[in-house]
Amino acid sequence: MSVSLREAVNGRFLIGAAVKSTQIADPALGSFIAHQFDTITAENDFKPARVQPRAGEFDFSVVDQFVDFAQANRLQLVGHTLLWHNQTPAFLFADDTGKPLPRDTGLQNLQHHIHSVAGHVRGRVLGWDVVNEAIDDSAPYLRDTVALRSIGDDYLEHAFRFAHEADPNAQLYYNDYSIESDSKLPKTLRLLKELKSAGAPIHGVGIQGHWTVSDTGVPERLDRAIRAFSQLGLKVMITELDIDVLPRNVKDRDAKSDPYVNGLPDAIAQAQADLYAAIFAVVLKHPGVVERVTFWCLHDGVSWLDNWPIRGRTNHPLLWDRNLSPKPAFDAVLHALRS
Ligand code: XIL
Repeated sequence: MSVSLREAVNGRFLIGAAVKSTQIADPALGSFIAHQFDTITAENDFKPARVQPRAGEFDFSVVDQFVDFAQANRLQLVGHTLLWHNQTPAFLFADDTGKPLPRDTGLQNLQHHIHSVAGHVRGRVLGWDVVNEAIDDSAPYLRDTVALRSIGDDYLEHAFRFAHEADPNAQLYYNDYSIESDSKLPKTLRLLKELKSAGAPIHGVGIQGHWTVSDTGVPERLDRAIRAFSQLGLKVMITELDIDVLPRNVKDRDAKSDPYVNGLPDAIAQAQADLYAAIFAVVLKHPGVVERVTFWCLHDGVSWLDNWPIRGRTNHPLLWDRNLSPKPAFDAVLHALRS
């Protein structure tokens, strides 16, 4: 088999990918995953809507497939996610009319969900993204979610406590996007400090890392954020790494919003490779602090960015193309890991 990221990283941190249940069920893809990576994250299958589709009714059938696959292939498993404003059933925090539930009921539902899910995989996951994307992009602090309206500002701290009760040895993370940016870093540091001073059992912070190829300021901002998080005594992970090559501010799919249906021009593939290399160079500057880098999806043909922010485009954000052939970005990451 071809050279692997896992061998090139060689234990300095963990390298992973978000994968789909159909991929781990496919023998060829399954061995590709096991060859390349140390850890996997379920792209969707641990999310609240998947595991608790109806109030009080849990479905762990796919979760168990992930646990079995990880064990059979000596992979570590990361849980994503216990609490988010998306892909989460409304009944957890709102009544039938959409009105937020009273605090006690919201807290009980949060506790029951987290105890059930994290308890089910207790001892079998390395860690959990306990809360996902709680910081607002433009408002001064927290995102206005139905969980917050029901429970109050301290809902995050309770989520961490419930997760720790359910699986005392699991690492617990706060996970969010753009938290290395000028606008979100200060709010993130405030949240992390508040969680720590409230005694919440938090081990680390996940920087999602959904970056775009034109954003050459990423490495510098990433470096600054890693330092700031580590000064709080927290570990850092890049949890959802990909580098978008398409315009994001688009409404319709047309030749302008979807320009690379026939392939990625060499110059852009090279710019993407350079940015990936620079990101990994920053990661290597922080041994013992950055504990994991996880790519969000396996190859360009199955990336969520083919369907976001609009459906059906041909994006090229990852290290392997649609035929699972390594791109210039793959070679650049290997080179960065070896130098
Ligand atoms: C995405 C999945 O990749 C898609 O398949 C799904 O339709 C929507 O969610 N931030 C996150 C991830 O934390 O859970 C999201 O995953 C991508 C953005």
